[in-house]
Amino acid sequence: MRAIVLDPDREPVPDLVPDPGLAPDGHVVVRVEAAALNPADLKVVSGSVSGRFLRARTDPLVPGFDFSGVIEACAAGVGDLRITRRVFGHLPYSRANEQGSLADFVVVPADAVAPVSDDVGHRTAAATATTGSTALQGLRDVGRLRPGGRVLVNGASGGVGSHAVQIARLLGAEAVVGTCSAAKMDFVAGLGAEPVDYRRTPLAETPGGPFDVIFDAAAAASYRACRRLLTPDGAYVTTLPGPGLLLDLMWAVFSRRRVGLVVVESRRADLAQLDGWLAEGALRTPIDTTVDRETVAEGLARLASGAVQGKIAVDLS
Ligand SMILES: NC(=O)c1ccc[n+]([C@@H]2O[C@H](COP(=O)([O-])OP(=O)(O)OC[C@H]3O[C@@H](n4cnc5c(N)ncnc54)[C@H](OP(=O)(O)O)[C@@H]3O)[C@@H](O)[C@H]2O)c1
Repeated sequence: MRAIVLDPDREPVPDLVPDPGLAPDGHVVVRVEAAALNPADLKVVSGSVSGRFLRARTDPLVPGFDFSGVIEACAAGVGDLRITRRVFGHLPYSRANEQGSLADFVVVPADAVAPVSDDVGHRTAAATATTGSTALQGLRDVGRLRPGGRVLVNGASGGVGSHAVQIARLLGAEAVVGTCSAAKMDFVAGLGAEPVDYRRTPLAETPGGPFDVIFDAAAAASYRACRRLLTPDGAYVTTLPGPGLLLDLMWAVFSRRRVGLVVVESRRADLAQLDGWLAEGALRTPIDTTVDRETVAEGLARLASGAVQGKIAVDLS
């Protein structure tokens, strides 16, 4: 099958790789129509240590996590999924994952995909899978956001943040404040947040609190730095593990405030919720740029530049 593979210089180039083979029970084969790029792809492509925790080291190595496409084959035990159904999802951030979504096919568990509504395009679905799920699982499950809550999203202009601002509203947040760089203030305001330039206002001085949830989508802060902005039983949720998180967890031990890490999972119910919001126009996935097989390297360079507002989609149709 066709795929994007990393050449010896770790440049992503189109090539041919072996077909995926038969799907085991409970799995479907998806013909990928679109994918999307994430910071995780930058880590995998660069060969960094953190990238080695996100997927297996294979040769050839096909990058990509998000996908949207059409079911090409079903094994036994996939419930109501059928050949030709449009579905989307994302591959796991796991050292056991040997696949990349920048390929003609992926083989995935049936409960890790959800149908894509007719009104939702493959690029939009793919670009929603990881970051929409991260925002939903981070705010609802880790942050335990309740209707009427107040939310601060740190890094509101990125993939996770742009979904988090909107999903906080959809979960009933009364107010959402979003930090970003100066050039992206209008973009963040358009998503439904009160924008704050993080270069001008230190996080600890962000107006609009106290917050029930501080969602550090950019993983650029710490609980220690912003705990005074939280309500007495508020939650600080981050997207990256590390030594700082351990310190945060210890710091919060004697407090009613909580510190949590979201580790995204591709779950049918959450993907279906995201698809429903997209189909009814309640959730928007801002696509900054679409690249194709030949221009994936340019998409990764744009993502690395920090200029992106929202997501970069990859058209593989
Ligand atoms: N734990 C998980 O399961 C999981 C899942 C998905 C993603 N992630 C991680 O979450 C992080 C964000 O992902 P993403 O897709 O949103 O990345 P992205 O699209 O590249 O966005 C990065 C965001 O970080 C903001 N930012 C950069 N420096 C900042 C600072 N000092 N203070 C506040 N904001 C700052 C950027 O704002 P400006 O552009 O306005 O400067 C931008 O909004 C990545 O590290 C990714 O690996 C984790």
